[in-house]
Amino acid sequence: EKPIPVITIDGPSASGKGTVASIVAKKLGFHYLDSGALYRLVALAAFRQNVALDDEQSLANLAAKLDVVFDGGEIWLGKDKVTDEVRSEKCGNGASVVAALPEVRAALLARQRDFCQLPGLVADGRDMGSVVFPDAGTKIFLTASAEVRAERRFKQLKEKGVCAIFENILQDIQERDKRDSARSVAPLQKYADASLLDTTKLTIDEAVDVILKRFE
Ligand code: CDP
Ligand code: CDP
Repeated sequence: EKPIPVITIDGPSASGKGTVASIVAKKLGFHYLDSGALYRLVALAAFRQNVALDDEQSLANLAAKLDVVFDGGEIWLGKDKVTDEVRSEKCGNGASVVAALPEVRAALLARQRDFCQLPGLVADGRDMGSVVFPDAGTKIFLTASAEVRAERRFKQLKEKGVCAIFENILQDIQERDKRDSARSVAPLQKYADASLLDTTKLTIDEAVDVILKRFE
């Protein structure tokens, strides 16, 4: 039996993982897993149900029962379309808090592995190549300087009409990097068998091409 091809793209916030991963998936006709969205959805469900972000058992229950549908770029939590809300910085920061809890990570593991189906998968997050899909054939660690990442996020928010302050975004990114790297479970790091791709000076298309070449 031939193994299902998997490309993992891990890296820090606003390095371009989501943008690049979804283009690569589209070009190859593969499935796409945005694992960060699952952690964001746990945070959003917790906000809505008034579950404290340090109540590990309740959060793990929420994670296990998450009623989520990914449908062509849209994300549904139960009957609500939450595509924009999960991408908010509030949900991003909340995600980074709940993602440090081992029980929450464990509760999301099987759900993530379910995405691995023919003809193949592109998965982006922090631990796709290290924990969730350790046998993936192509493992990328996508990064860029914190300043460039903050600029990208700033531009992205401005285009969406969200009012934002650059200094605050940079600070948020640095805090999230620190929290994601310092945690004991599945910390953000360039693990040994991932190949580094620094996009500080690369366009989206250039990054996509490098990944497609490494996959071939
Ligand atoms: O798009 P951005 O990189 O800002 O965030 P994301 O990928 O949606 O992830 C939000 C948060 O979820 C991250 O800061 C991580 O703490 C957490 N996360 C994780 O721990 N493991 C993953 N595989 C994906 C996200
Ligand atoms: O998923 P992640 O948080 O890593 O990043 P993203 O949301 O895919 O990308 C953040 C922003 O950076 C998007 O607006 C991309 O269009 C932009 N980007 C860029 O300008 N140049 C790149 N080489 C990669 C991403």
